[in-house]
Amino acid sequence: MLTAARNEMLTRVGPGTPMGELLRRYWQPVAGASEFDANPIKPIRLLGEDLVLFKDLSGHYGLVDRHCPHRRADMSYGWVEENGIRCSYHGWLVDQTGRCLEQPYEDTANPKPSKAGCDTKAYPVKECAGLLFAYLGPQPAPELPVWEPFTWANGFREIVLADIPCNWFQCQENSIDPVHFEWMHDNWGSRLRGGDTNAAPKHLKLKFEEFEHGFIYKRVREGQSEQDRYWTVGRVALWPNGFYLGSHFEWRVPVDDENTLSVAWFFMRVPKDRGPYVQERVPTWMSPIKDENGRWISSHVINQDIVAWVGQGRIADRTKENLRSSDVGITMMRNRFFQEIDAVAAGKEPAGVIRSANAAQCIALPNMAREFNTEGILLADFDRDPLLRQRLKEFRHHYGQPPQVRRAFVEAMGIAR
Ligand code: FES
Ligand SMILES: [Fe+2]
Repeated sequence: MLTAARNEMLTRVGPGTPMGELLRRYWQPVAGASEFDANPIKPIRLLGEDLVLFKDLSGHYGLVDRHCPHRRADMSYGWVEENGIRCSYHGWLVDQTGRCLEQPYEDTANPKPSKAGCDTKAYPVKECAGLLFAYLGPQPAPELPVWEPFTWANGFREIVLADIPCNWFQCQENSIDPVHFEWMHDNWGSRLRGGDTNAAPKHLKLKFEEFEHGFIYKRVREGQSEQDRYWTVGRVALWPNGFYLGSHFEWRVPVDDENTLSVAWFFMRVPKDRGPYVQERVPTWMSPIKDENGRWISSHVINQDIVAWVGQGRIADRTKENLRSSDVGITMMRNRFFQEIDAVAAGKEPAGVIRSANAAQCIALPNMAREFNTEGILLADFDRDPLLRQRLKEFRHHYGQPPQVRRAFVEAMGIAR
């Protein structure tokens, strides 16, 4: 249980708030690069700031104030040019650094050597593994961490986005919550498919550890032992707002206090007898979360998680909860956030910020399936593992995979469907 003031500290993300200041110290994934193939401009809201993300004709990505520096028209209704984005109201042009390059009427009738004071807010953007990352914090920006899976070859990758109408922190608490797998995904999942309930192997033992890049949770369930990889390796709640499960990442990116962008990046190693495989473009798609009756979609794994997140309320009221031993990881994570908030307030560098380019270029994380992901297995061997067999059959993580993404997957994997 937390006091209302502590809950507010964890959940408010706008400029100048303690958590907002902390989260601004990290690169955040905000979009898929392939989204910009069809339309080079995307309005986004991030950490309570209205912005526009664009790709200009020279290929620079820019993230600037949604409002034009002239008289605040909506820049997302402008267009991109060789260098920057032009406002459709009176034609001012700003580049990806926020510099105002042109003011057409002034440049014609009243030219001045300087446009000082007319620059707009701009943040750096970097592309990695098909994702676009933005950094909203003070300069100099830290290195963008290149997680090892981003460097893996011979894989089919896809990016799935979902708009979640609740605060980011309750989504992130789900990253350090092993017991929900048994109930939400196994027992409830089974019930949704018309099967047995309460038959899933019970959790017998949990352990939570902290490491350089977040937390690791370990578990033993009925039928497993301490020799199992779920105990010897475990899974990662990635600092500050990610979740890493061996072949995919999920980030809970704060849009504002009451909305979150779920960004998930998936990797599927193509069969050994299929490679070498080179993916030209990482597809990005949006997963719907409500059905035609206005109910949350519950058929897919992350959609089930979303049912839990939004069910906790727009901003979960942590003054009314009852934490137990299954929630030790949640408390560890909250305490770490409070400590890092204090560090930033004291002018210190918070945990997990990487300043060495060398250290950032390929960061390994605990991974229960590294060999499968890097070495691969023969197509025939997929059949021996029920989970892998299932992954070939359908995309179980998010509802609504577009048919063209499925076709590309089938093609990549070399399977006939
Ligand atoms: S408001 Fe954008 S150019 Fe005038
Ligand atoms: Fe889950």
